[in-house]
Amino acid sequence: MTTFSQATAHGKINLHLGVGAARADGYHDLVTVFQSVDTHDTVTLVEDEYDFPRVDGSAAVNLECVSHVRGEVPEDPSNLAWRAFDLVVDDYADRHGARDLPPVSIRIDKRIPVAGGMAGGSADAAATLVAADDFLARAYGVAGLGRNRLVELGASLGADVPFTLVGGTALGTGRGDQLTTMLSRGKYHWALILSKQGLSTPKVFGKLDELRDKRPELTPSLETRAVAEALIQGDPFALGAALHNDLQAAALSLKPDLRRVLELGKEAGAIAGVVSGSGPTCAFLCEDAAAVDQLIVRLSLELPGTSGLRVSGPAEGAYLGSPAGR
Ligand code: C5P
Repeated sequence: MTTFSQATAHGKINLHLGVGAARADGYHDLVTVFQSVDTHDTVTLVEDEYDFPRVDGSAAVNLECVSHVRGEVPEDPSNLAWRAFDLVVDDYADRHGARDLPPVSIRIDKRIPVAGGMAGGSADAAATLVAADDFLARAYGVAGLGRNRLVELGASLGADVPFTLVGGTALGTGRGDQLTTMLSRGKYHWALILSKQGLSTPKVFGKLDELRDKRPELTPSLETRAVAEALIQGDPFALGAALHNDLQAAALSLKPDLRRVLELGKEAGAIAGVVSGSGPTCAFLCEDAAAVDQLIVRLSLELPGTSGLRVSGPAEGAYLGSPAGR
């Protein structure tokens, strides 16, 4: 029988993103509040009938991305999902001995905006870790690695991978990968306004460093109490007042048209709006799903080249299976 494993992971919004100084390893220390939102990517691993030429040291043979959103992702071993699969294969080999595995294809069904500041690539890695653990546990006939080990493996792939595995609402420190679960009451409705052109995360961080050299007022915002209190109260207006992103100044500097998106979102009735992560996606907190739809229609009409997505949070962490099976 053909072996088949599938897993799903969600995108995220940073409700607060405080960025400290650049570190020697190229990362920045963060104090951030993540919340998962219900836009998802699904990764499917399937035993392939064709044995494509193998990439040295890799167990996967092929990667295909079916995109339901615009944006290009690499379909080669540089893709974080491919690297995640190999990491799990190596971990099983270290624990249980190397085995000859069948050719495995990775298919990504992509709905999270690409290069949009919503951890789409990290979500693909997280879903692949979960699917690969299932695939290999069955191939070896042993118990899976478990969530804690997958989080450790995820941290070696990227700063946002641990959160996309865990999901919900969490405080992230260090590179954003040291997580503490936070209480969050109620459901929050968001309009995501997507730009045609993505922004590169390292460029946005680099721009913030550059701006800080000239603008001393751009100090790191490391206090998350207002967000935490709003979430405990379940009060979207208090949350709207507390939303903050240190990277917003850098994203606006690289993509000045985002200013107009933020203004129009407010005019269209949002409680508040913020650039999501490193951008360029802008996230608007709204009173309910109808207000989200109204905002998206208005902005899509007024700003050609943008499109919108209605999401709500918090959503869960990466899980085995697809939303259709829930
Ligand atoms: O970990 P990930 O590969 O997702 O990060 C992409 C880039 O974003 C890093 O190479 C770094 O330039 C920047 N980054 C950072 N500080 C963080 C997270 C990301 O400077 N805490």
